[in-house]
Amino acid sequence: MSHSDTSRKTFAITTPLYYVNDLPHIGSAYTTMAADAVTRFERLRGKSVLLITGTDEHGQKIQRAAESSGLQPQEHCDKVAAAFDALWQKLNIQYDRFSRTTSPHHHAIVKEFFGRVWDKKDIYLGQQQGWYCVSCEEFKEERDLLTGHRCPIHPNKEAEWRDEQNYFFALSKYQNHLEALYQERPEFIQPESRRNEVLSFVRQGLQDFSISRVNVDWGFPMPADPKHTIYVWFDALLGYVTALLDPDSEPTLENALKKWWPINLHLIGKDILRFHAVYWPAMLMSAGLPVPDRVFGHGFLTKDGQKMGKSLGNTLDPVDLVNRYGADAIRYYFLKEIEFGKDGDFSESRFIDIVNADLANDLGNLLNRTLKMVQKYCDARVPNVRGEDIPADNLLKEIGLGLSDRVAQAYEALAFSEACRYIFTLVRASNKFIDEQAPWSLYKQGNSSAVGQVLYTVLESVRLSAYLLSPIIPSISTDIYQQLGFSIDFNQTTLINDSVTYATHATWGTLPPHQSLGNPKPVFARLEQA
Ligand code: MSP
Repeated sequence: MSHSDTSRKTFAITTPLYYVNDLPHIGSAYTTMAADAVTRFERLRGKSVLLITGTDEHGQKIQRAAESSGLQPQEHCDKVAAAFDALWQKLNIQYDRFSRTTSPHHHAIVKEFFGRVWDKKDIYLGQQQGWYCVSCEEFKEERDLLTGHRCPIHPNKEAEWRDEQNYFFALSKYQNHLEALYQERPEFIQPESRRNEVLSFVRQGLQDFSISRVNVDWGFPMPADPKHTIYVWFDALLGYVTALLDPDSEPTLENALKKWWPINLHLIGKDILRFHAVYWPAMLMSAGLPVPDRVFGHGFLTKDGQKMGKSLGNTLDPVDLVNRYGADAIRYYFLKEIEFGKDGDFSESRFIDIVNADLANDLGNLLNRTLKMVQKYCDARVPNVRGEDIPADNLLKEIGLGLSDRVAQAYEALAFSEACRYIFTLVRASNKFIDEQAPWSLYKQGNSSAVGQVLYTVLESVRLSAYLLSPIIPSISTDIYQQLGFSIDFNQTTLINDSVTYATHATWGTLPPHQSLGNPKPVFARLEQA
């Protein structure tokens, strides 16, 4: 059960549990698309993966949102949680658990965990004074606020002054433990720039933080003092634990932690790094539990340089985007075009240019024109050539043989755009190869064995590319595979069986000679600029 055991066959990964203050926007979808791509890649490699997502439903921010929508808080939460779920369906997200923090199971887990921390004497009553940003659900240092006490992440919102009795968690007790964790496990916080942020924050000296509220009803009552409700972040982080429970098992920590703990990867945005990389491991240490393997904080999707967000209202509607352009195009753009870890802007015209260039032209046309030649010159079957018959100095074979290792490393490092770049090196080389080899002239010259070799080489390169892209564009990859004569659906979770192993499909040279091919049709229709 330790982080150093890389041979673990299970892999548990989380998205944040999203606030239900408003409908999901493209920023919330961003983390989820990335998590889904990692999940699919690890599944291809034969791991047993648990993808956890869900919603964070307590606290003042949600209570106020419900008030302004004129609904009871639970009704409001149900409605918005359903909208998140519907979006995940549209975006082809293969999650396993949808953790909602208002569920009764979660209540039981929070109580038990709270009890452990209480027994450890890490909770005490104190006076909390300070500026609170309700949109962040976080107290802010005065020096971090903009003029008018506005929050830098939500510059249209003023932080509110609070002076009240709260229970505190003794974070400061864990200063040394946390510093030792960051030292011993440099990979715990990624990327490096985020790790440095956390190190310098912790170096300033950790202060205890309040974990109860007296002015908020919408939360779990604090077991030790029910006049207080539990602070939304203390409650929400535990939603990851609740998610690990099998649906029909008793909600105890022991049951929850049995199979999947410690979680391998928390994917989050950089705004919630402190909670995950500082507060969360300290809470776990207090409860006597091992900490997760890795926390990765990605950048923001911005509009005109500002974080897109529900609180700021400068968002893009993902449902509208998917309806207009399809899930694969959206997934591809965000994962390929923005370096994961950095901020990135969305521009619709750039989006259209990129998916047209990569998916419609380079990949789609390549397959389409090659299949048409195969129909004409080779009876609509894979040429009777085996991968090992292709000379070792064939450029596509050379690229193809080294590709899956490089791509696997990129996926492991969450470098999705790098993974795409590597794959498209093969795709572009294939386009160039077919132009240079001109199978149509070889055919006219009666050199059918050369025609077969050229077409095999290209089809096999398209196959490998589609396979390695399948975590990002699963539906297009499925179409490509089916046109190549496989009956494989990358949207099925039970993909792994004896005939579809990573070892064979991630290797160049796997396309079976003589396999009957499907009908060529464009796998991605060009998008028009509005
Ligand atoms: N409820 C907390 C998380 C609790 S996890 C136990 C929360 N929710 S959130 O809905 O506000 O944000 C969820 C995630 O979406 C965060 O990782 C945040 O960084 C991400 N994003 C929200 N807006 C975003 C962008 N504009 N761009 C990229 N990611 C963004 O925080």
